[in-house]
Amino acid sequence: MTIGIDKIGFFTSDYYLDMVDLAAARGEDPNKYLIGIGQEQQAVIPPTQDVVTMAANAAVKILSDDDKQAIDMVIFGTETGVDNSKSAAIYVQSLLGISNTARSFEIKQACYGGTAGVQMAFDHISVHPESKVLVLAADIARYGIGTAGEVTQGDGAIAMLMSQDPQILALDNQSAFHSENIMDFWRPFYRRDAIVDGHYSTDIYIDFFNQTFNDYCAKYQRTLTDFSAMAFHLPFTKMGLKALRTVIDTDEHSQQLLKEFDYSKKYNSLVGNLYTGSLYLSLLSLLANSTMLHAGDRIGLFSYGSGAQGEFYSGTVVKAMQRQRLGHQVDQLLANRTKLSVPEYEAMYANGLPNVGGDVTFDSADDHNRFILVGRKDDQLI
Ligand code: CAA
Repeated sequence: MTIGIDKIGFFTSDYYLDMVDLAAARGEDPNKYLIGIGQEQQAVIPPTQDVVTMAANAAVKILSDDDKQAIDMVIFGTETGVDNSKSAAIYVQSLLGISNTARSFEIKQACYGGTAGVQMAFDHISVHPESKVLVLAADIARYGIGTAGEVTQGDGAIAMLMSQDPQILALDNQSAFHSENIMDFWRPFYRRDAIVDGHYSTDIYIDFFNQTFNDYCAKYQRTLTDFSAMAFHLPFTKMGLKALRTVIDTDEHSQQLLKEFDYSKKYNSLVGNLYTGSLYLSLLSLLANSTMLHAGDRIGLFSYGSGAQGEFYSGTVVKAMQRQRLGHQVDQLLANRTKLSVPEYEAMYANGLPNVGGDVTFDSADDHNRFILVGRKDDQLI
């Protein structure tokens, strides 16, 4: 029996900011943002979306009625939760009409929460082969107007249906982990914007990648040539490239990995950081855009959550990609976004929805924004 990702859906908000415009407003050379950091555009979130609505909008695109009945676990990885007590997963389960016999809960370890969900789903399906698990990874990345991290903001959600005999990626059940108490990025309860030591965080990320990649290779007797491509957690796309460069050389296979990296960063460079969903948007970008991957090819995945937890694991491509279908949904979504000026973005940033508790009510708007928040009353979002 193989276990892995059977379906994958993506959602990001309707608005974006061009990094050339942001560079001009902040007095920076545009090439610093475009080349030095590797970001072209970033998603900007309106007050009508939060992690619950984004995740529901990502999942509704991929789930059939049969899936909704078969799902017996909903795992929501996020570090932008809407309540300190009630999980975002319960809201999504209810919005989508997923069976009430499912277990639903939220996981947090910075950007690692989505991977924790994927691995937990794998273990659950290993024991209960008929199960389907919905893994959600959604976040809003905020650092603050005029901060160094501003160019690396973004938002979005990934929804993955995990099952036996998956259609997209079969996991190898081979992983290496590293965790350590590190203050590179954090967000205390009272803050909406994260605190980050970006250069330190980059160094730690590269260090964790090397440790987990080397541990993985030693544990499973693999080398770089066993991987047709690598997908990285991409807070900004240059970060993954820096990590990849530490393990490649000038040989032909290394050049292939660099080419595949270009495919894997395409969507992330247009959306920005979506924390827990970032690695899986990169995987989606790779699968949708690579012209070189074939069934049976092995992909290495590096997950990193500040604070910090790293994991390197792997999976193999199942089919000839369903490339067109996977790419179509994302390309269309990105093409339909509205570009904001810097003052419009700054105004929307200030109006963003605070993370408050209470029961939430949602409404459906259009085909893309199937779920939106319509307001807040007495500590409840309506
Ligand atoms: N043309 C081309 N390149 C240029 C350039 C130009 N005109 N000007 C500068 N550059 C290059 C620089 O050489 C540098 O490249 P290298 O890193 O390869 O040397 C790059 O642009 C950036 O320049 P700086 O380092 O001077 O930029 P900065 O001081 O403004 O900081 C940053 C950049 C560190 C990425 C900052 O934006 C930041 O802190 N971002 C947030 C980082 C982050 O997300 N960290 C968390 C990671 S994990 C995560 O996602 C969190 C989680 O787990 C929840």
